[in-house]
Amino acid sequence: MKLGLRFGSLTAIVSTVSLAAVAQADCPDYTTYSQSPQGNASTGPLGLPYMRPDPACRTFNSTIVEKVISDMTTRLKDPDVARLFENTFPNTLDTTVKYYDQSKNLAFIITGDITAQWLRDTGNQFAHYRSLLSLDKDLATLVKAVINNEARYVTQYPYCGAFQPPPESGLAPTHNDWADGVVVNPPVNNQTVFECKYEIDSLCGFIKLSVSYYQATKDTSMMNNNWLYAIDQIFRVINEQSQPSFDANFNYVSYYNWTGTPGASYSPAVDNSGNGEPKGYTGMVGTHHRPSDDLSVFAFLTPANAMLSVELQNLATILDDAKLAPNVSAQAKQWSKTIEEAIWKYTVVDNIFAYETNGLGSRYVMDDANVPSLLSLPYLGFLNRTQPAFVATKKMLMSRQNPYYAKGANFSGIGGPHVDAWNPWPMSQISNVFSTDNDAEILNSLYTIVNNTDGLGLIHESVSIYDESDYTRPWFAWANSYFAEMLLDLAQRKPHLIFKDNKPYTPGM
Ligand SMILES: *[C@@H]1O[C@H](CO)[C@@H](O)[C@H](O)[C@H]1NC(C)=O
Ligand SMILES: *[C@@H]1O[C@H](CO)[C@@H](O)[C@H](O)[C@H]1NC(C)=O
Ligand SMILES: *[C@@H]1O[C@H](CO)[C@@H](O)[C@H](O)[C@H]1NC(C)=O
Ligand SMILES: *[C@@H]1O[C@H](CO)[C@@H](O)[C@H](O)[C@H]1NC(C)=O
Ligand SMILES: *[C@@H]1O[C@H](CO)[C@@H](O)[C@H](O)[C@H]1NC(C)=O
Ligand SMILES: *[C@@H]1O[C@H](CO)[C@@H](O)[C@H](O)[C@H]1NC(C)=O
Ligand SMILES: *[C@@H]1O[C@H](CO)[C@@H](O)[C@H](O)[C@H]1NC(C)=O
Ligand SMILES: *[C@@H]1O[C@H](CO)[C@@H](O)[C@H](O)[C@H]1NC(C)=O
Repeated sequence: MKLGLRFGSLTAIVSTVSLAAVAQADCPDYTTYSQSPQGNASTGPLGLPYMRPDPACRTFNSTIVEKVISDMTTRLKDPDVARLFENTFPNTLDTTVKYYDQSKNLAFIITGDITAQWLRDTGNQFAHYRSLLSLDKDLATLVKAVINNEARYVTQYPYCGAFQPPPESGLAPTHNDWADGVVVNPPVNNQTVFECKYEIDSLCGFIKLSVSYYQATKDTSMMNNNWLYAIDQIFRVINEQSQPSFDANFNYVSYYNWTGTPGASYSPAVDNSGNGEPKGYTGMVGTHHRPSDDLSVFAFLTPANAMLSVELQNLATILDDAKLAPNVSAQAKQWSKTIEEAIWKYTVVDNIFAYETNGLGSRYVMDDANVPSLLSLPYLGFLNRTQPAFVATKKMLMSRQNPYYAKGANFSGIGGPHVDAWNPWPMSQISNVFSTDNDAEILNSLYTIVNNTDGLGLIHESVSIYDESDYTRPWFAWANSYFAEMLLDLAQRKPHLIFKDNKPYTPGM
């Protein structure tokens, strides 16, 4: 098993886990815990172990979450799938609430085996609890505290995606070897910022979480000045990063640049003084790194712009509903439309979406596993599964024409350069389930994941097509949440495929 490809020395990071404010001192480190089978085995052919931490070690308790686990596990027909749901659905609350102070309205949520809070991961780590927020006030209050902490990060550092604990927590910042020797502009303070890679979908993650909280609770107190200022900063980034690299007089325009320092840094230098490849104007918003935290090849990442278009429309909807900030809502609607039109105009050729374009005629046809990906366009809400351009694109993505599609004896899917071309990600198979109505295809993707957890009963980042036991990231909370979200979707959409009977299930109904 490979660990920490994203950040070289994971051991340095793991050593700070003992400072946990929430977890008890004698609780095992979940990075180690998740690497071997723990509780007793499920009764299915795979015999998957029970992997939830001891109740005393869980970082947040929710009765509604326990209720959903028992509702689902009694209905699911395959005991191995039921065990996976039981392990994955509560994983965010069981293991990643590193700090929470309700009176201060602050919470710090770690990604799993790396002690930092990613805006993207957090938005997704809570996505599968969306329908529970109106049923469990304490859970909603936790999410509100997460949003408030993030509003503070975004206000200060709208270009960054991963952060350190708030000072109120008393938790020490984690050292990130991969940020050593990195020169980033605008400059950042490493007591607040874990890593400052600019990825537009990080900001979408913050909006997505805010929208889900507001829609469930109608609580306008979430939209405090801190939050409104963060939203303003998002529009600053959108305005800056939609501009072309050269202005009309060939002055080079740069609001953000990031580059490694030879000899001092694991992170490589980046062309054009840390700016990457030049871009033209399209109406889309450029991004510097991908959702995998790898450097973009071309700046206009189609799926991230699709997510931005959707989330800006959602932002306008909640602002209008709350009768707040009409100027922000108007801008959000305008940008949502501009971006959507630019996606159709500049990224689709012969019914195929490019993954990245540069606004100057170049396009990169591929997909990368992380969400937002092209395969996840229906999940993101940008289009529906039957849209002809999506159907054609999906067919290409799940074939050799996508350079990052790979297939072995047991495992297959889409990966990316983050790990290796031969290490697809289970997350891509989850996106595939969200992207199809075909029962056989759904079951094939589901079991491609279920069969390949290396007997550990948790969802990993990537799995080698040559060897199931060669996987990355034993404790990856977002992947666990995404898997559980998929099963809840199937519970409504395709109950006969997974349940003992054909009755749809929706939590709270
Ligand atoms: C299996 O694990 C569950 C959950 O920890 C426990 O309730 C049950 O008693 C265990 N069964 C056996 C046979 O050990
Ligand atoms: C969760 O409940 C258990 C008892 O079942 C308790 O020991 C633990 O401290 C609780 N965790 C939190 C964060 O309150
Ligand atoms: C912050 O940067 C300073 C100077 O480069 C370095 O000595 C320190 O270890 C860094 N702290 C963290 C938490 O990364
Ligand atoms: C890097 O970005 C800063 C703004 O954060 C800008 O002032 C500077 O000119 C840029 N440098 C280059 C070489 O692009
Ligand atoms: C909206 O208006 C407020 C009050 O005039 C202003 O502070 C804010 O910057 C505006 N926001 C945007 C995105 O235009
Ligand atoms: C899906 O999108 C296509 C193309 O926009 C449209 O024709 C179709 O009606 C949509 N189907 C559904 C179920 O919304
Ligand atoms: C999963 O494993 C079972 C048992 O080995 C096998 O029958 C099934 O074909 C596998 N499914 C997939 C999609 O690999
Ligand atoms: C495929 O699964 C079988 C049965 O679990 C196992 O023996 C074999 O090693 C696996 N092959 C790969 C390439 O992972």
